Amino acid sequence: MKILAIESSCDETSVSIIEDGQKEIATVVLSQMDTHANYGGVVPEIASRMHVENITMVIEEVLNKSGLSMDDIDAIAVTYGPGLIGSLLVGLMAAKTLAFIYNKPLIPVHHIAGHIYANNLVRPLEFPLISLVVSGGHTELVYMKDNYSFEKLGGTLDDAVGEAYDKVARVIGLPYPGGPRVDKLAHEGDDTYNLPLPLDDDSYDFSFSGLKSAVVNLVHNEKQRGNEIIPVNIATSFQNRVTEILTKKTIRALKEKNVHNLIVAGGVAANKGLRDRLTKECEKNGINLIVPEIKYCTDNAAMIGAAGYYAYLRGDRADLTLNAKATLKLQ
Ligand code: KG4
Ligand code: ZN
Repeated sequence: MKILAIESSCDETSVSIIEDGQKEIATVVLSQMDTHANYGGVVPEIASRMHVENITMVIEEVLNKSGLSMDDIDAIAVTYGPGLIGSLLVGLMAAKTLAFIYNKPLIPVHHIAGHIYANNLVRPLEFPLISLVVSGGHTELVYMKDNYSFEKLGGTLDDAVGEAYDKVARVIGLPYPGGPRVDKLAHEGDDTYNLPLPLDDDSYDFSFSGLKSAVVNLVHNEKQRGNEIIPVNIATSFQNRVTEILTKKTIRALKEKNVHNLIVAGGVAANKGLRDRLTKECEKNGINLIVPEIKYCTDNAAMIGAAGYYAYLRGDRADLTLNAKATLKLQ
């Protein structure tokens, strides 16, 4: 079954064709990052306008790349939430239009289900599993006992981990998007700053705003005292605390649920410090770890095509009244 998938929930316009939820036939990702970098973050109004300008071209490009025509496509999958409402609406209208004109089933896909199913492009998921979802908008531990069954064990009480990365990057003088840049610096410095380990308790919840504020206050206080700050060491100290708490709670969830499969999802799954630490702990505890290829960690439509296949098998269908949802529970 060949699914044409569309993702436009934030600042990437992406279209992909995926076969049977596993095989990538062709993907195009058009990133608006360079434009938003001028403003230090994603500007929603600009993002939706750029999606409008680009979506048709990206659909045509993916069809050209694949050598397929719309006749070869069996269904259309689309991210309908959560995300920026204006951005979501553009991809959704494009998907509805294709489904209507070519008379194909329309499959609504949750953005985070997409991030999770990016791992299915590496190898078929094995259940039960725990998914650590870490992106610019989400930090969650999800238990899956089977395909397309999601039970949230815990999540962030405030900032998402990617959001904290981007903010810390800004205060130590790195341009947007800061996450990858903090990650790179973190491997060059020393853990010299005494930052707190956030929400180190018995829950599966996370909190990153306190850690973020600790960095902001540290930089502010050192500047006021006329002291020099050492950005590489802040990056190392911050990243160590983040990866320590994410790994600690994830391993505890695996042990308590007696689960031996871990997958990581979302933009922060690209983080080398997190990948290294999880790899080490999983080896120690006999856990099978899957992390997506870096290109499938950040937003892309290939992951929506993979998730869309299992959503379709579950019976998920939408009609042309489907609306975009800025906030949407994973279920
Ligand atoms: O999943 P994603 O592309 O968009 C959302 O759905 O939110 O994630 C984007 C987030 C940004 O906050 C970005 O800074 C962060 O992922 N990110 C990273 C890394 N690569 C991307 N954070 C830390 N280390 C990285 N290597
Ligand atoms: Zn995302």
